[in-house]
Amino acid sequence: MTTAVIGTGGLGSVIARQLASGGEHLRLSSADTESARTLAAGIGPAAVVAVDNHDALQGADAVILALRFTVLKGVIDELADSLTDQVVVVPSNPLSTDAHGNVVRLLPEGQSSGEVVAGWLPAGTRLAMAFGSLSADLFRSSSNRSPEPAVLFYATDDDRAGDEVERLIRTAGFEPVKAGGIEQSGRLEVGGDLHDLVAGPAEARSLIGGA
Ligand SMILES: NC(=O)c1ccc[n+]([C@@H]2O[C@H](COP(=O)([O-])OP(=O)(O)OC[C@H]3O[C@@H](n4cnc5c(N)ncnc54)[C@H](OP(=O)(O)O)[C@@H]3O)[C@@H](O)[C@H]2O)c1
Repeated sequence: MTTAVIGTGGLGSVIARQLASGGEHLRLSSADTESARTLAAGIGPAAVVAVDNHDALQGADAVILALRFTVLKGVIDELADSLTDQVVVVPSNPLSTDAHGNVVRLLPEGQSSGEVVAGWLPAGTRLAMAFGSLSADLFRSSSNRSPEPAVLFYATDDDRAGDEVERLIRTAGFEPVKAGGIEQSGRLEVGGDLHDLVAGPAEARSLIGGA
């Protein structure tokens, strides 16, 4: 199977490496293509560099938009004509840094990235919020944990997106657990009770009330 990863920075590069190590084929895209080229060279033949963001979607079963929240809407608008029926996975937290380098929240308390992104996407897009609930370092160190896999939470309102993101989470070396619909995605994001939480399946299911 093939996944497009748009954004090959701190998080996108780790996601891409984990997916590739699980056997996924990747189509990579970044702003100036340099980071995508470097990443593809490190991964090997399983990763190809797309000409641009549109090209990354060609033949992809899903696309992961590993982009900062501040550029996400622009890329969604750029890709809008190709997103109908597409599974779109978004790990973005609603954060930026101010002029002093302090991390600032871009949305009012109580409003999640997932809810805002859902409103930006064209009708028919199959959105799952996932892969942004752990820091890149924690994501890397928690993958392929043994004997009990670590959980990666996701949120979606779409069954096909749910099936696909579960496949991707397993491919990346985690056990998927659904936190709920997009209205629950704030729990996965920075400040949410499931953010940066490394848990096994039983603990994770009890936390979301599904045990
Ligand atoms: N880093 C983490 O630990 C972490 C953890 C959880 C969630 N997240 C979330 O993941 C998202 C990405 O974070 P990050 O740390 O990976 O950010 P980052 O290191 O700044 O990487 C952003 C990537 O987006 C690319 N990009 C920017 N504009 C683009 C465009 N128009 N088209 C295509 N690619 C574009 C950049 O390309 P270039 O490489 O060419 O500049 C870069 O590869 C954020 O929303 C963040 O909240 C991050």
